[in-house]
Amino acid sequence: MKKLRVGILFGGRSGEHEVSLLSAASVLEAMDRSKYDVHLIGITKDGRWLTAKDAAHLLPSCTGETHHLRAGDPEATPGAALLEHGTEVLVPPVPSLAEYPGSALSTLRASAEKSLNVDVIFPVLHGTFGEDGTVQGLLELADIAYVGSGVLGSSAGMDKDVMKRLFAAAKLPIPKHVTLLRGDWQKNPRRSIQRIEAALRYPMFVKPANLGSSVGISKAHDRKGLGVAIDLAASYDRKIVIEVSIGGKRAKARELEVAVLGNDAPEASVVGEVIPCKEFYDYEAKYLSEGSQLIIPAKLTKAETKRVRQMAIDAFRACDLSGMARVDFLMGPGSPSDPRPRKIFLNEVNTLPGFTAISMYPKLWQASGLPYSQLIDRLIQLALERHEEKKSNRYDL
Ligand SMILES: Nc1ncnc2c1ncn2[C@@H]1O[C@H](COP(=O)(O)OP(=O)(O)O)[C@@H](O)[C@H]1O
Ligand SMILES: [Mg+2]
Repeated sequence: MKKLRVGILFGGRSGEHEVSLLSAASVLEAMDRSKYDVHLIGITKDGRWLTAKDAAHLLPSCTGETHHLRAGDPEATPGAALLEHGTEVLVPPVPSLAEYPGSALSTLRASAEKSLNVDVIFPVLHGTFGEDGTVQGLLELADIAYVGSGVLGSSAGMDKDVMKRLFAAAKLPIPKHVTLLRGDWQKNPRRSIQRIEAALRYPMFVKPANLGSSVGISKAHDRKGLGVAIDLAASYDRKIVIEVSIGGKRAKARELEVAVLGNDAPEASVVGEVIPCKEFYDYEAKYLSEGSQLIIPAKLTKAETKRVRQMAIDAFRACDLSGMARVDFLMGPGSPSDPRPRKIFLNEVNTLPGFTAISMYPKLWQASGLPYSQLIDRLIQLALERHEEKKSNRYDL
């Protein structure tokens, strides 16, 4: 049988470049070479696309040296600049040319002779220009099957303001929040603060709408802190989301996570819990310090577990996702003296969650009976199925 040609797309221009390198190294190691012909496509921090050895040099496990993490540094990553000359890789997109013999496109094929030919791409990219629908748009244009959500789901899953609207429309519980535009903040900070304080109580979480890995996020305990937090978030995005802190002044929120897998019939994994080693799950707690704990399964009542898993599937559907997503929740800590059920809110969906073998998403599936390499098989299969399904659309009148 012919092996499936899989392109692993990794690195990228986002702040999560290094995280992507780790995820990609894990995926690469776990892929069954008797089934797959694997092609590496690395994107440097400054957006250059590299293939083959040049791409492999970006990966930590392939070099054993950390200086290759400095992928944005041209000295550290000599080699082909793909988008500049188009000599080494498939992108910019060349649609399935075999389907158009003799057309103008076959001339393109000739000039793209050296282009890499793959059946499916696994974008192991996190954050901006990878998880947000931009790369997905490029792959749609190129008519290449790819793992994970499409353009709409990816961008909705990246934008915390739009995501909350979709959750609200699906009647899913979310923390009370306000969305502020950078322009309004700059024009009239006093009025913006008034508006926020009229709607929400301190402490509040202030976030750039489109980012990830907790970058630009802070917890504001008072008016002064709020101003500083908004300035920081506004340096990352034109939209800023401000929300009440679940857990309030005294307690921390519990953070629950569910892995969802599938296209039109998504399934939910067991529920996991993260216990951050810091005041909240910030960048350092996520990637740098060792202290954060992952607990699988989370200690919940049967009814809570059932509810969280159902909410995960509802959230996946609300954002029109496909392939995979990690759905994250915030839960009020509750108290033994309070008989009311603990409140569970949706926090966000992550359409390309951390994907090393020890990341939460794969671990949740592992605990649900699906080992890492089989999870990769399933994701690739889902990508091909979705690509195939789309062929039943007609585009003429
Ligand atoms: N409303 C909230 N209440 C309590 N903690 C929060 C709230 N919003 C965010 N956090 C904390 O901040 C972290 C990062 O926020 P999140 O919205 O998940 O952003 P990111 O997309 O960067 O992961 C969360 O994991 C949690 O620790
Ligand atoms: Mg998060």
